[in-house]
Amino acid sequence: MAPAPDHNTVKAQLAKTRAALAGVGVSYAWLDAEILMAHVLHSSRERLHSHPERRLTAAQQQRLGRLTRRRADRVPVPYLTGEREFYGNLLAVRPGVLIPRPETELMVELAIAWLGEHPGPRRVIDLGTGSGAVAIAVAKAVPQARIVARDVSPRALRVADENIARFRLRRRITTERANLLRGAAPADLIVANLPYISAAQRKGRPRELSYEPALALDGGDDGLALIRQALRQAPAVLNPGGCLLLECDPSQARRLIRLARGEWPSAQVSVHKDLAGRDRVIRILL
Ligand SMILES: C[S@@+](CC[C@H](N)C(=O)[O-])C[C@H]1O[C@@H](n2cnc3c(N)ncnc32)[C@H](O)[C@@H]1O
Repeated sequence: MAPAPDHNTVKAQLAKTRAALAGVGVSYAWLDAEILMAHVLHSSRERLHSHPERRLTAAQQQRLGRLTRRRADRVPVPYLTGEREFYGNLLAVRPGVLIPRPETELMVELAIAWLGEHPGPRRVIDLGTGSGAVAIAVAKAVPQARIVARDVSPRALRVADENIARFRLRRRITTERANLLRGAAPADLIVANLPYISAAQRKGRPRELSYEPALALDGGDDGLALIRQALRQAPAVLNPGGCLLLECDPSQARRLIRLARGEWPSAQVSVHKDLAGRDRVIRILL
């Protein structure tokens, strides 16, 4: 008689998890299944494939089952594993803080490029820092930069502080709880990924987004409420010859350019595309 199939192996449990997620319509079910399994086993996705016969303990199976049910409810994977990679840095993330997005890496690249062209101990403000993703990426790439990471959310700032400590950047990045640029000390560079989802976009947004804080996503009726305020405050904060980088939704780029030119008629304003070829960052050079 043939031996009964072993249901406890990595291979079998991966197939089960993938089928459960695909069955409720989760996109990339196979990838999520691998990430959750690797997380439960404190292993890597590569090792799952090189050791498909490894057996899970009962506790590991239960843990995987719980995570799979939460993923099936559309809880974003980074909230289940507690981490997300951004610009090559593995950051802690938790509900209450935005999960950093790959498109925001464009703003990091533009910030690093500007700092490279303007060497010296530059002062940078990361406005709406969330997990600290942008501040940490810039600080690691530009050792002379001193960064103030601002956010209005105490929960976000707790995660930012944790990440700043994780990367031993406490001496170079300070956090400030503040409303936009109110009371900010002068800066040479401001990078801002503020909430920019409009009321219309909120209606059709995927279920996953409901787990992320509204404070990090909602930008009022047209999505530009906070960015508009920041643009009005920025002239009092930005040093002459400074730079302001604003991430936006591609549909907002033209309007933002007009707003920026209204605030700074003689500034050089340009729009930059993300890897998907969509207008993503407005750069204002004073
Ligand atoms: C889109 S998230 C960006 C987070 C992070 N910079 C990133 O790219 O992953 C926007 C952040 O702005 C913060 N925020 C919202 N309103 C704010 C305000 N009035 N002043 C300062 N920060 C604010 C939110 O708490 C949130 O952390």
